[in-house]
Amino acid sequence: MKKRIIILTGAGISAESGLNTFRDADGLWEGYNIEDVATPEAWKRNPELVQDFYNERRKSVMAAKPNLAHLALAKLDEKFETLIITQNIDDLHERAGSKAIIHLHGEIIYSRSSKNSALLYKMKNHEIKMGEFCELGSQLRPHVVWFGEDVPLITKAMHEMPKADMVILVGSSLAVYPAAGLLEYVRPEVPIYVVDPKIPNVNLPNKIIKIQEKASKAVPILVDKLLKDA
Ligand code: APR
Repeated sequence: MKKRIIILTGAGISAESGLNTFRDADGLWEGYNIEDVATPEAWKRNPELVQDFYNERRKSVMAAKPNLAHLALAKLDEKFETLIITQNIDDLHERAGSKAIIHLHGEIIYSRSSKNSALLYKMKNHEIKMGEFCELGSQLRPHVVWFGEDVPLITKAMHEMPKADMVILVGSSLAVYPAAGLLEYVRPEVPIYVVDPKIPNVNLPNKIIKIQEKASKAVPILVDKLLKDA
């Protein structure tokens, strides 16, 4: 029976692929107000601005490549049963070869019906235009969880956490709930590795191994060690 590793990732793991994080110095929330581009109210008030914001981000995601951290995590499948629970809406984990992935905040490469959130459409180019409708006739929107919207996959994620024999947290400030609360569902005897140049505050009884380093440098080293010791 393979040991189970759950990897929680945030925007920091994609930073070295050229995708801005949210709360670093050059972060996305420096340039935009969340209220203007990432809430249902913003979508009602000015859908064009919201589309533009996500069209720009989708363009960068489609141009980005998985970095050494994404690629290393995919290698863990050789000897472990892995599950990636990510707050990221990019598809870099998929393109790196990871198979079991939960996107808590949606996936930017899909557009979605505004009437029925189960109707998803994989996008070929980076733009959703106003006037593009779903099969029910509603305006297509980004398949992204906005602030104030439900996080439908959080229950599934919460049920997975206690099954972990090891947890790796990479590149999240743990600023946003409910995602940040997932660590509380880890069994207390399970070690938690934290990879981040600015280690976030994780006050849990678990053994926390802090690796204050960028993901593309630290994750491959950690993965090689875990594979060697397995
Ligand atoms: N390697 C590893 N970690 C990094 C790197 C890097 N090269 N660069 C930055 N980081 C770390 C930062 O130190 C920070 O702890 O990544 C984290 C990024 O934090 P945030 O910008 O807050 O991103 P995240 O935690 O994913 O935000 C959560 O907030 O705005 C919402 O929906 C959005 O999913 C997002 C959620």
